[in-house]
Amino acid sequence: MCGIVGYIGNQKAKEILINGLKSLEYRGYDSAGIATIENNKIDMVKEKGRVANLEASPEIGKLTGTIGIAHTRWATHGKPSKENSHPHMDNSNTFAVVHNGIIENYADLRKFLTDNGYSFISQTDTEVVPNLVHYYFSNDKSENTLNKFLTAVRKAVSDLKGSYALEIISSLFPDVIIVVRKDSPLVIGKGNGENFIASDIPAVLRYTKDFYLLDDNEFAVIYKDKINFYDSSLEPHNKEIKNIEWDASSAEKDGYEDYMLKEINEQPTAIRETIGSRFRLGEPCSFDDIDITKSYLESLNKIFIVACGTAMHAGLVGKAIIEKLCRIPTEVDIASEFRYRDPIIDEKTLCIFVSQSGETADTLAALRLSKSKGAKTLAVSNVIGSTITREADYTIYTHAGPEIAVASTKAYTSQVCLLAILGIYFAELLGSYPKVKLEELKSDILDLPSKIESVLDNTEKIKEFADKVYTQKDMFFLGRGTDYDVALEGSLKLKEISYIHSEAYAAGELKHGPIALIENGVTVIGIITNEKLVEKTISNLQEVITRGAKTFIITNQVLPNNNFSYCLNIPATNELISPILSVIPLQLLSYYISKNKGLDVDKPRNLAKSVTVE
Ligand code: G6P
Repeated sequence: MCGIVGYIGNQKAKEILINGLKSLEYRGYDSAGIATIENNKIDMVKEKGRVANLEASPEIGKLTGTIGIAHTRWATHGKPSKENSHPHMDNSNTFAVVHNGIIENYADLRKFLTDNGYSFISQTDTEVVPNLVHYYFSNDKSENTLNKFLTAVRKAVSDLKGSYALEIISSLFPDVIIVVRKDSPLVIGKGNGENFIASDIPAVLRYTKDFYLLDDNEFAVIYKDKINFYDSSLEPHNKEIKNIEWDASSAEKDGYEDYMLKEINEQPTAIRETIGSRFRLGEPCSFDDIDITKSYLESLNKIFIVACGTAMHAGLVGKAIIEKLCRIPTEVDIASEFRYRDPIIDEKTLCIFVSQSGETADTLAALRLSKSKGAKTLAVSNVIGSTITREADYTIYTHAGPEIAVASTKAYTSQVCLLAILGIYFAELLGSYPKVKLEELKSDILDLPSKIESVLDNTEKIKEFADKVYTQKDMFFLGRGTDYDVALEGSLKLKEISYIHSEAYAAGELKHGPIALIENGVTVIGIITNEKLVEKTISNLQEVITRGAKTFIITNQVLPNNNFSYCLNIPATNELISPILSVIPLQLLSYYISKNKGLDVDKPRNLAKSVTVE
């Protein structure tokens, strides 16, 4: 939540900061602001609403500096408003700060500062930070050196409880930006005579491909032509630079109307890249990055898959795959529940954490809990160097490329694909599933990209259906087995971007309550891809048709004559991976319903893509 950008160099900071903020809007977009330094004075402009409002602000012209910090906000403390938007300054306007995260003890710090004569303009937790820096700086009676500034920042930060990625500038030191982080992401892009700071790599990928990934409790002092790194005691150290291979255009819209539509259409490539060289037919799967052995797998009594939102839905399919192929009991849990319910974990438990961003606060906390109880941890993530990947014992990456739209699409299908490959890898080590069947499944995985393309060829048909149902108030999604897992994801997608209330139900459970809600004209989406369950699901759909529901069926089976309102055929594949195909019509359906309603598909209200607070 909240995106931060920084620039120091010879160009005007403003344009670069605004470009960066625009690509970070997925992290929050209720207000935005920029501060630059010119002639030893901090100039600041803030606006409520989207970055576009900030860009159009009549005051924006006053930002002429070549050093600056910027922020796009997802409100936690204090409503969205100009006063509460970042940057925040201390009372003397000497220090300006932008912050991503939450200062949990801000009320105590605010009281301490108030008792010491400081006053506050905003209701935010962040405003304590510039004032604390000022407090420590002004109480240090030594000469004004950079070291004194850095020491004041360190003292201020050591008072903070919670999570933070901070950028701090001072009118007294117009040649540096100081940054520090704990449990919130921050990367530094190295340019030629200029440097960039951002919450994520894509925000500044058009300017550089060389990045430093700041660690927790690590400080950096960033000049235009050098960057100095310090540990939590301000001992200097060298840091390894990472070259990022992503193509800058992968973080742009590339001619598509919205990122979500682009990302839906990128799924054949995302799956191809995720498969990569992890297997070939006739050869065992290989994961160079993890050294899990047969005896370790044999020692396990349980696997947990823990995640939030769409990633958790991918985990549900992962459970079906691992249990079927490996016969290891696998439990899926929502990270925010798992972390507080005293789960039964020991060294015989493998905990898998699925997270596109690798930064989700609850998933990270669940990982830390699992480690503390002796379990091995494995991260499935899309973002190289993200916090979860750095803390897990093992990491395997989806190679979906940057996902910008708040509603996750290509990350989901890539996660399911990677969990399937992981399941095959485990099964090959264990010898727990017939080799010939594993080869068939591999062949089905290799066919996925072309099959996704043929599902995408049906876009017009799905759009037509969306045109007919976009005024609905409620919708229901039904399925059994992995079709139920997809129903959950389809229902979430619809809620997220179209604001239509929807429920996903295991088809057999319908008659235990929700069928009471079915009345004339209600839309029910049925997913049928499991041959063994066709008749069962059809019977449940007949029950809703009888009660007046309109039905939209997504299937790869030959269905008997029926009275469904619409039926969309998708290519056949193994039922364990069929969610990768059956989810695509549901993604497109939500997309076109949202477009028909004139909503902002990429930035739905109240949501953020990366949820770095509890
Ligand atoms: C937010 C996003 C979802 C995402 C979830 C988990 O709620 O809006 O799209 O599935 O966080 O995110 P992660 O980065 O951990 O996969």
